[in-house]
Amino acid sequence: MTERPSSGIKVELDALPRSVDLVRSPDGAAAFTYLDERFLPYEERFETTSDWREIVRAIKTLAVRGAPAIGVAGAASLAVWASREGAKAAAGRGCAYDKDAFFELMGPVSDEVRSARPTAVNLMWAVDRMKRFAEQSAETLQSSWEIADAMFEEVLRMEEEDIASNRAIGAYGATLLDHDSNVLTHCNAGSLATVQYGTALGVVYAAAKQGKIARVYADETRPVGQGARLTTWELSKVGIPTTLICDNMAASLMAQGKIDAVIVGADCIAANGDTANKIGTYGVAVLSKHHDIPFYVAAPASTIDASLTDGSDIPIEQRDPSEVLAKPIEGVDVWNPAFDVTPAGLITAIVTDRGVFAPSEVVQALEW
Ligand code: MRU
Repeated sequence: MTERPSSGIKVELDALPRSVDLVRSPDGAAAFTYLDERFLPYEERFETTSDWREIVRAIKTLAVRGAPAIGVAGAASLAVWASREGAKAAAGRGCAYDKDAFFELMGPVSDEVRSARPTAVNLMWAVDRMKRFAEQSAETLQSSWEIADAMFEEVLRMEEEDIASNRAIGAYGATLLDHDSNVLTHCNAGSLATVQYGTALGVVYAAAKQGKIARVYADETRPVGQGARLTTWELSKVGIPTTLICDNMAASLMAQGKIDAVIVGADCIAANGDTANKIGTYGVAVLSKHHDIPFYVAAPASTIDASLTDGSDIPIEQRDPSEVLAKPIEGVDVWNPAFDVTPAGLITAIVTDRGVFAPSEVVQALEW
């Protein structure tokens, strides 16, 4: 295994592209640009679509993935719908602006977007925020086109807030690490899972700038390989020394004293601090406890769902067996949950954009 010293790491954050972005098409209506992550690490393929259903498909197929990025993509689906079908259909119903028609039509669209993936609470949060925002805007705006424009601006605000919250998570999280830390992460909670910068990897980037990162070990993350394909791609782009390991190698690495801290992202945090994240996270947390290694979760406050008492209430997405076994084997069933729940008791601290909290106190981040 080749090891490089941490001294002299140049952190090239400018190398990270924006993963998702709402843009204006030449016709002036909204369109959505995204990096199709299914082709990484070998091809950086950006797609632009003006069809909200296409955005929902991108979320379902993991072309766009990671809780914060899914949230922004969900919000963008509504903005794209509003500036095209929504505004047109509503205007067509009356000579001026048929408010009821606009919201009548938006109901099923937002339900479809909301149900694209069930675990990442950021998706529901973002869709609900957009609906509320559109309703409030309708109190003063005169046409469905104006509401669509206002929704467009709201998504851009959401994008900027996401980047700012990742930066805040990074700054808070970096304080928890010592100089020259070797960090293990699972899945991809980096720039690729957000608009830009990342949550768990946001902590790594902020810490690396302070000379606190020696190396990041990236779990491969079966079955879809977010660690192998995505985390390695972005860490190497930024210039962080990176070692890829298969999921079943983490225990040995920890036993050899090679890991100082574990940092992962989150898809949903219940009121008691139980945390859903990519399948396999729970196992890493158990290993961390056994080896006395701090286990940190990094996520924005929008990932906390205070209505869920504990992790048993978090809906866990089941995905297609073909992700585990490309060709079915007769008589063999496949179990493919996309996420698992790490009990709060295994989590050392939760790093949010509003500070660092003990898991049992994480709802305080919402009172900010
Ligand atoms: O199925 P994915 O790739 O969307 O799962 C992503 C994760 O589990 C991430 O760790 C989580 O969404 C946090 S992203 C900042």
